[in-house]
Amino acid sequence: MPAADFDAAAFGETHITKGIGRLSKHVFEDGKGSWITTDKGVKLLDMTAGIGVCNLGHCHPKVTAAAAKQCGKITHAQVNIGFSAPQIELIKNLLPILPHPSLDTLFFWNSGAEAVEAAVKLARAATKKQNIIVMQGSYHGRTAATAALTRSKTIYGEGHGPLMPGVFATSFPFYAHFGLPVDTDVEELVRQSLHQVRLTLQQQTAPSDTAAILIEPVIGEGGYVPAPASFLHGLRQICDENNLLLICDEVQSGFGRTGTMFAVEESGVRPDVLIFAKGIANGFPLSGIASTNELMSRQKPGSMGGTYAGNAVACAAASAVIQAFKDEHVLDNVAKRSEQLVSFLHSLQKESRYGHLIEDVRGRGLMIGVQFANTPTTADSDNAAAATVKKPEQIAPKVVAECLKRDMLLLSTSVFDVLRFIPALNISEDELAQACGIFKESFEAAAKELGH
Ligand SMILES: Cc1ncc(COP(=O)(O)O)c(C=O)c1O
Repeated sequence: MPAADFDAAAFGETHITKGIGRLSKHVFEDGKGSWITTDKGVKLLDMTAGIGVCNLGHCHPKVTAAAAKQCGKITHAQVNIGFSAPQIELIKNLLPILPHPSLDTLFFWNSGAEAVEAAVKLARAATKKQNIIVMQGSYHGRTAATAALTRSKTIYGEGHGPLMPGVFATSFPFYAHFGLPVDTDVEELVRQSLHQVRLTLQQQTAPSDTAAILIEPVIGEGGYVPAPASFLHGLRQICDENNLLLICDEVQSGFGRTGTMFAVEESGVRPDVLIFAKGIANGFPLSGIASTNELMSRQKPGSMGGTYAGNAVACAAASAVIQAFKDEHVLDNVAKRSEQLVSFLHSLQKESRYGHLIEDVRGRGLMIGVQFANTPTTADSDNAAAATVKKPEQIAPKVVAECLKRDMLLLSTSVFDVLRFIPALNISEDELAQACGIFKESFEAAAKELGH
């Protein structure tokens, strides 16, 4: 037992790398559903779900029970030594819910970044080509390869180079990237962005050197921006014309987060490779890729695998997650709670005395972003006088701090002034109403404090 005056947060600050950025100094001890209790007994309402991981809430009883049961059977059924029974069971459960029947062959890993790297290795081995095209605003992880694929913030790669070579970034249809107003026609942004992808293939990386286009169907760390269906269709066409693979990173947007099991489903576009992680095992480390048998057969035996790849306990937890989605009609709740949250945010935008500060409410399902009217435009860059005027302080970090004072966890995202809601997908109507109440108070307090 630690001494009564032991300060776990202070101990952590001393002994854990300063390289971790942390939202709060709370020490989490218990989690149940949408609530976390700290070592000091503070009960926090969680609008982060551990960054989109605990989609069924913390410690979902059926997932916990399945993991506990597996712990008594076999915990480490190593995949380079034999087949793992819980992994085989998971594949049977996963195949029917993947976004396209051609995705019939899998590889499991531990983290999202590892799965992204597995997708890159597959694309390179299968196409015998090297380069990868990514989107401006993308986030794919913090390893040396995935930091190279990331274009949401420089912090992930800064000072850590040289990173993996062979990565080219192209435009994503997000008004703020173009410095255009929020009401810019989305289809015009799509046309511009597809034009840039085609130019990238003519000016930067030839199709004969390019293995794949990698995209998050909803850009996550880059600002919670869904890719319009027409953009995904356009990318599919460009990939088909140039013999490139289309890789969808659904690490954050997958497992019911956007109201369908995978975000790409809504567009009807077929990815060649799907990357998943986070929500699949509700907190147990598990990730993976799904692709066609034909592509996956082009990798040499021994080129894939890893000590903990597709851990048995995590696989058992994942099968329980899939069962709970069915038994508990989780996607129905996502649709209802999404409507509740979005209509609350729109009413705040219209009715609050500070509502004009909310520039955009966007997203799908329970992956909802709020962007404040604080984004530099091309007009600012063009105008020398405006360029010298200091932009007002960002609102999102202040709102996050105000929410924390009121015992609610909420995250910001991207270089823009954006907040993101990622609650558990089974959050109740009452809990979400409480969160909306706390958000309103926090937003208004932050706006007032910033002198608006
Ligand atoms: C879209 C996306 N890809 C990859 C990753 C990296 O996952 P991990 O942190 O598990 O390595 C993340 C993490 O937030 C993500 O959102």
